[in-house]
Amino acid sequence: MDLYEYQAKDLFAKHGVPTQSGIVVTDADAAVAAAEQIGGLVVVKAQVKTGGRGKAGGVKLAQNASEAGEKASAILGLDIKGHIVHKVLVTGAADIAQEYYVSYLLDRANRTFLAMASVEGGMDIEEVAATKPEALAKVLIDPLVGVDAAMAAQIADAAGFPAEVRDEVIEVLQRLWEVFVKEDATLVEVNPLVQTPEGRIMALDGKVTLDENAEFRHADHAALVDLAAENGLELKAKEKGLNYVKLDGEVGIIGNGAGLVMSTLDVVAYAGEAHGGVRPANFLDIGGGASAQVMADGLEIVLSDPGVKSVFVNVFGGITACDAVANGIVQAIGLLEQGGDKVTKPIVCRLDGNNAAAGRAILAEANLAVINVVDTMDDAADRVAALAAGA
Ligand SMILES: Nc1ncnc2c1ncn2[C@@H]1O[C@H](COP(=O)(O)OP(=O)(O)OP(=O)(O)O)[C@@H](O)[C@H]1O
Ligand SMILES: [Mg+2]
Repeated sequence: MDLYEYQAKDLFAKHGVPTQSGIVVTDADAAVAAAEQIGGLVVVKAQVKTGGRGKAGGVKLAQNASEAGEKASAILGLDIKGHIVHKVLVTGAADIAQEYYVSYLLDRANRTFLAMASVEGGMDIEEVAATKPEALAKVLIDPLVGVDAAMAAQIADAAGFPAEVRDEVIEVLQRLWEVFVKEDATLVEVNPLVQTPEGRIMALDGKVTLDENAEFRHADHAALVDLAAENGLELKAKEKGLNYVKLDGEVGIIGNGAGLVMSTLDVVAYAGEAHGGVRPANFLDIGGGASAQVMADGLEIVLSDPGVKSVFVNVFGGITACDAVANGIVQAIGLLEQGGDKVTKPIVCRLDGNNAAAGRAILAEANLAVINVVDTMDDAADRVAALAAGA
């Protein structure tokens, strides 16, 4: 889960990272009031879960409260890379002597954690990384050691932080590592980390991604979820305990086992090229041992996606045999129709593995108009893509 800047800064403050809080508002009048309360120069900042806000006109300095209202009006409603601004953070304007960059992230390619740091931080860090990679230090972190004082010093020195801020940066790097580990984050990024004219170090921006797999040990993280910004189908799937990710194609996908579902996405995208470029509409892994109820829940979510034109149920029978899955599909359609949802979108089923023949026979016998049984995965992908394209 990605956090908003103001949420990231709350976590920074909780772990002793020097930062600047502010007031989050959703309209111009509240921005004026917030600026009055803060006093002096303020910065009005779009709160959206994407980067490049400053360059998109989403970060503006205001000389006084009424100007803060004007800036807030200009920023609220902006579309920044497809994210509409519904909230702005009003915060005191900091005096900046220097802008730095630091981050920790999960480095999947190297199977470890990575620290990145640069003394050339600020809005052009992507440019620095692309054109002057030597200015962005990258230091692998041993997860068993983490970032202790020695490791923090190594990161600070690799980036070339000047002597006058080195000690403070080393301290902040350790506090940020605490955020990363204690909050179970997969990304903690500060850009800019600034040096004030008094020589103090402060996080003026923050990007944090929390690992949803660890949410069971962070009851407090539930409060960080912005329901309005979440996808409705994903929320509904989560309530039902389903492993569902919304994508933006036309072919609904249901499979058992994450690996099978991933390869189903691939074959459907590939087959779709021959049918006007139709693509998968979602990832949904109903897991092994899926009951009729789980199949019904899965079908209900996938069929209720307005973008879905056809559905591919791709099952490889293992411990759960195909006849049980076939019964599940038939019962699931029955459950949906009882619930008042007439199933009209075509469903292509491919059953293979344990008891496949019995499973196919059950589907054939049920003789449901919406069900198409296809024996191989490639043929099924081609059929479901053709159906999505209206063939
Ligand atoms: N409180 C502040 N006081 C003074 N200047 C600020 C303040 N916050 C941000 N700035 C200036 O605005 C620039 C952009 O702000 P910020 O880093 O928060 O957004 P961004 O980097 O453009 O957005 P994103 O992080 O989404 O790419 C900073 O590099 C800094 O120069
Ligand atoms: Mg930034």
